[in-house]
Amino acid sequence: MELNRRAGHQGTGPGVITPDGCAVELYSRLPVGAEPDIVAGAVSPGAHILELGCGVGRVTHPLLERGFTVTAVDESQEMLDRIRGARAVRSAIEDLDLGETFDVVMLASFLVHAGEVEVRRALLRACVRHLAAGGCVLIQREGEDWHTNVPRERVDPSGLTMRIVSAEPTGDGANSVHAEYEFPDATWTQTFVSRPLTKEQFEGALAEVGLQVDTYLTEDGTWARSSLAA
Ligand SMILES: C[S@@+](CC[C@H](N)C(=O)[O-])C[C@H]1O[C@@H](n2cnc3c(N)ncnc32)[C@H](O)[C@@H]1O
Repeated sequence: MELNRRAGHQGTGPGVITPDGCAVELYSRLPVGAEPDIVAGAVSPGAHILELGCGVGRVTHPLLERGFTVTAVDESQEMLDRIRGARAVRSAIEDLDLGETFDVVMLASFLVHAGEVEVRRALLRACVRHLAAGGCVLIQREGEDWHTNVPRERVDPSGLTMRIVSAEPTGDGANSVHAEYEFPDATWTQTFVSRPLTKEQFEGALAEVGLQVDTYLTEDGTWARSSLAA
């Protein structure tokens, strides 16, 4: 089923492109980084994790291998078709209402930087709606210089060159970011809207939905563990 493209988001390259401009084939190839270990170090062993925006399971599968139970949510059926061993739910995160709560809710992949403030609020409200008493929300946010240190590129041992080519203001505080992913045999691009958030703005966005940061899990402050404010 063809879903509506999210405004300001597009992608090019082989295979299916999701509404936010991600390529299913690209995410099937991307290596996983430190994400599963960061999560595993921040939550109780065996926790049930609600992963929002799971893609093909790049992080889901290593979390399952570490003994977690995962409910994986994505709006793209083509992404979800590649999930193995986790319950997969197709939904926009904004609309998700499973009628259940989880020990851990995970909003990674910089989704908290949604270009539209109302979308960001809806994403964070979905996190709170699914949070068990005493549970936590893990959020991945952008690094300090993410929008200013442009262009930049990183070469991965897997043969992937990843470039952030440009970050152009859209005029209302957000940027249109253009990224390229080049493998020896294929190239993908993604253009997406991202709203930079200082640490204060990030914490303010969480406070709007009743969340507070308990701790930053990485030195660069890109992973935060939060919970319901007292
Ligand atoms: C950048 S990819 C990251 C996928 C995965 N988290 C990873 O790290 O490999 C973002 C994923 O989130 C999904 N997504 C983005 N916004 C969404 C939304 N508002 N509701 C549901 N899925 C969303 C996209 O379809 C895509 O699969």
